[in-house]
Amino acid sequence: MLQEKIQQYSEEIERFVPQSYNDVEAFRLKFLVAKGVVRTLFEEFKSVSPDQKRSLGKVLNEFKQAAEQKYQHLHEQFASNKQTSKKKAEADLTLPGEGFVFGSRHPLSLVRKEIVEIFKKLGFIVAEGPEIEDDWHNFTALNFPPEHPARDMQDTFFIKKQQGNDIALRTHTSSVQVRMMENGEPPFRAIMPGRVYRNEAISARAHCFFHQVEGLYVDKDVSFADLKQTLYYFVQELFGEDTKVRFRPSYFPFTEPSAEMDISCTICKGKGCAMCKGTGWVEILGCGMVDPNVLENCGIDSSTYSGFAFGMGIERITNLKYEIRDLRLFSENDVRFLSQFETELI
Ligand code: PHE
Repeated sequence: MLQEKIQQYSEEIERFVPQSYNDVEAFRLKFLVAKGVVRTLFEEFKSVSPDQKRSLGKVLNEFKQAAEQKYQHLHEQFASNKQTSKKKAEADLTLPGEGFVFGSRHPLSLVRKEIVEIFKKLGFIVAEGPEIEDDWHNFTALNFPPEHPARDMQDTFFIKKQQGNDIALRTHTSSVQVRMMENGEPPFRAIMPGRVYRNEAISARAHCFFHQVEGLYVDKDVSFADLKQTLYYFVQELFGEDTKVRFRPSYFPFTEPSAEMDISCTICKGKGCAMCKGTGWVEILGCGMVDPNVLENCGIDSSTYSGFAFGMGIERITNLKYEIRDLRLFSENDVRFLSQFETELI
């Protein structure tokens, strides 16, 4: 009798496939509680004849283990499901999703992109170079001999003093022009955007780093007229067709002749305001014809080739476009300032 019952229940246990955790619980209640099948069979076992006890005892113990193991296994499997289904039920699917907040581009990035796009239309490519430069590429090749006073205007942060070729943070991206000319063959038509450094006290008008876009055009028969027309086109594209330009003679060691270019004040349209200090004009860049010495320093035959170069600060252009009066705003990471600029999705 007992043996047959054990046999039947064993088969039932083996066949048992629960559909939910409730079924697993029902299994426990049927087999494993105080008055469940397992205990009841052990009760019955007490009254079997002594000669059957040995073999039946073994079978009964195996049955008990099988029932416990099956329950353990199903419990683990369904308990984890039970939790996730509970979580799912708790989530209110009618709540609106959390929106994705788009950041905005940094104003300097916006303006750099605009500048790059304009020069691209004229066939200029973008060239880049290291921010940590050696003396040769930042100064000497550009006609700043070691004791030249023009170096004072571009004092910088030195990283390593080494005989004749110190390593420092670049003061302008003209160093990229040198690298480009050293490593290639004319014609060159490129702009060099990038971050540059100078040892200046930080104020509303000066910082220890800023951003430039410089440009270089070297070919046969490049003249000052090409320089003027290129920069005039650039200004009209960036600030509008009614913007006027004027060139004032200036000095840079690496260009001859050299000039500063002013544009008619974009804010007061030339009438005179705080931005242009009442003059109607604002300076936006330095430029000139590449000094033949510089071409020769970079291995280019100055009797065949000539070129022009220019350099502007992106901060200054951005100040004019957006009427920003304090340079420090660009690097303070204040979201109230940054979020006022255009958001670009790509
Ligand atoms: N490199 C100059 C500067 O940083 C700018 C410049 C570039 C001037 C090219 C003339 C020609 O001040």
